[in-house]
Amino acid sequence: MRIYHKIPELKEYIAFQKAKWRSVGLVPTMGFLHEGHVSLIEKSASENDLTVVSIFVNPTQFGPNEDYETYPRDFEADSQAARNAGADILFAPPPDEMYPDGYGTYVYVEGLSDLLCGKSRPDHFRGVASVVCKLFNIVTPDRAYFGQKDAQQLVIIGKMARDLNMGVKIIGCPIIREEDGLAKSSRNTYLSSDERKRAAALCRSLYRAQEMVQAGQRNAGIIHDAMIQTLKEASPDLIDYVEIVNADTLQPVELLAGRVLIALAVRFGQTRLIDNIVLEV
Ligand code: PAJ
Repeated sequence: MRIYHKIPELKEYIAFQKAKWRSVGLVPTMGFLHEGHVSLIEKSASENDLTVVSIFVNPTQFGPNEDYETYPRDFEADSQAARNAGADILFAPPPDEMYPDGYGTYVYVEGLSDLLCGKSRPDHFRGVASVVCKLFNIVTPDRAYFGQKDAQQLVIIGKMARDLNMGVKIIGCPIIREEDGLAKSSRNTYLSSDERKRAAALCRSLYRAQEMVQAGQRNAGIIHDAMIQTLKEASPDLIDYVEIVNADTLQPVELLAGRVLIALAVRFGQTRLIDNIVLEV
């Protein structure tokens, strides 16, 4: 596996590979890799000649009071994990390589970025779209892999790629979970052991919603209230939102029909966790 920290060298190597008609898959990450990331890298490695994994804790997607400084980082463990999963190239730029002095261009996907997580994290998806756009321009991938774990991010990147004719195929991958159902996340390491146990309520509430739908319930309000009740049993510090929306437009639905996304964000202590499920109704 080759490791690059500088953009020009990486671009040169990829251009050389593409001249030989090698297909390129990209897996963007912020590092501290876990089985969720690994599943994306393995899928890319199985579908492309060359898999590029990027590790970059992107400052522009963190709010002023968020965890940019304390976000977990472990480059040695990450390069091991990426190599074992089948990555050919690891791209780990320092912040000033991506955002040199005088940087000033951002991508904002209208209509999707201010909903759900965007309500409490106003500049988050602007930062995500901008850095992913830059990574696409640097790596020029044929395919790029994103987890369904960040459902809103996946929808926003898909729209950005279509709207801006980026010519990269966006591939969504299933959520990888712990044994008790908690979605794997680099931020799970912030949880105390008590919070970690209580955090299983996120997926319990999603499964409860799924069971209600399977039993014929279509009323979003009733499902929402049952989910809130399940979450409250775990005494979270804050329920940021529980929303039932159209899976493509992210607009709220009152009666469930078609592809429906049920998404939630909950805080235990200082740790904000998200999870979701997509149902075909
Ligand atoms: P990060 O949180 O490191 O996640 C990188 C990729 O791994 C994302 O596509 C995310 O959805 C996926 N992922 C995380 N946990 C997962 C899980 N349990 N199962 C399946 N996939 C999972 O998302 C980001 O970084 C950043 O916003 C990024 C896209 C890299 C832009 O900075």
